[in-house]
Amino acid sequence: MTASESAAPERRGPRVRRLRRLRRSEALRELLAETSVELRRLVYPVFARPGEGAPTPVGGMPGVERHGVGSLGRLGRTLASEGLRSVLVFGVARRKSADGREAWDESGVVPAAIRAVKRASPSLVVISDVCLCAYTTHGHCGPLDSKGLVDNDLAVESLARISVAHARAGADLVAPSAMMDGQVAGIRRALDAAGFGGTGILAYSTKHASSLYGPFREAEGSAPSFGDRKSYQMDWRNGREAMREMEADAREGADVLMVKPAITSLDLLARARERFDLPLAAYQVSGEYAMIKDAARQGHAEERAAVEETLGAIRRAGADLIVTYFARDVASWAAGER
Ligand code: PBG
Ligand code: ZN
Repeated sequence: MTASESAAPERRGPRVRRLRRLRRSEALRELLAETSVELRRLVYPVFARPGEGAPTPVGGMPGVERHGVGSLGRLGRTLASEGLRSVLVFGVARRKSADGREAWDESGVVPAAIRAVKRASPSLVVISDVCLCAYTTHGHCGPLDSKGLVDNDLAVESLARISVAHARAGADLVAPSAMMDGQVAGIRRALDAAGFGGTGILAYSTKHASSLYGPFREAEGSAPSFGDRKSYQMDWRNGREAMREMEADAREGADVLMVKPAITSLDLLARARERFDLPLAAYQVSGEYAMIKDAARQGHAEERAAVEETLGAIRRAGADLIVTYFARDVASWAAGER
């Protein structure tokens, strides 16, 4: 008890809880901080595009580029040397079609990218995004039915084919992001039947129809040509429904459950942490990246502090893994401190 606390308690009324005691010095704060964001938990998204040549920039996402397959192999080596452990691979299509068939072509951009990254740096964990929106002419996450809605079960068949192609190329985990019902079960069955029982599924379980995917859709060329994704992606207003999505994916055999966007889903992470013993992932999406970049550029926030605070809050809420475009920045800050 400090002197000021023991002095004349009767004059103070109820005993004051002195929470500031543990905030008095940097050393105390560091000793007692409850949360940290380790580099080993971060996944860096990479974009593979057709053709070779210099990487091309992505509007709205300073520092993020699309790479040809050769360049992506080199990037993989660089990332590993920076201390990163995992990438999430996205692809840009060569030719779009109504059903998005290029997506399951084993000589397509993403399988080639997976092979290139694995060859260049075998220790990197390679996760591949599994969806159709970058490959369909209409930009939706599966083939359309006569009403213009995505045909759920046909989409699941395609997602299963894509997953097998990615597994064959060497992906450690496939990450279905189409928000089709039964996609995890369909993919698990197809992987097992093709002899890829060891390939895991990181399920985008609670993926909201969000305003924060804009820069990503430019990067991948995957914006819907009409309408929106609200008939398959989740309504962000529904927390209980989010738990039902996760419950379904867990039951269908998902190995990791993911929520996105991250900063709008902290309550869902916290609830999922209590309910599920599966690893949880959160995706700090392109719009979250752009907001921080723009605020920093305009002098409204200090970039490093904003990144550490948002990633820290995502971690505190319960995420084991975080997919973030800031992963390389975090690595460089960590290197600066060694
Ligand atoms: C494709 C997909 C999207 C993202 C990941 N996979 C976009 C979308 O659903 O429109 C968003 C990632 C980001 O914004 O960083 N299904
Ligand atoms: Zn999609």
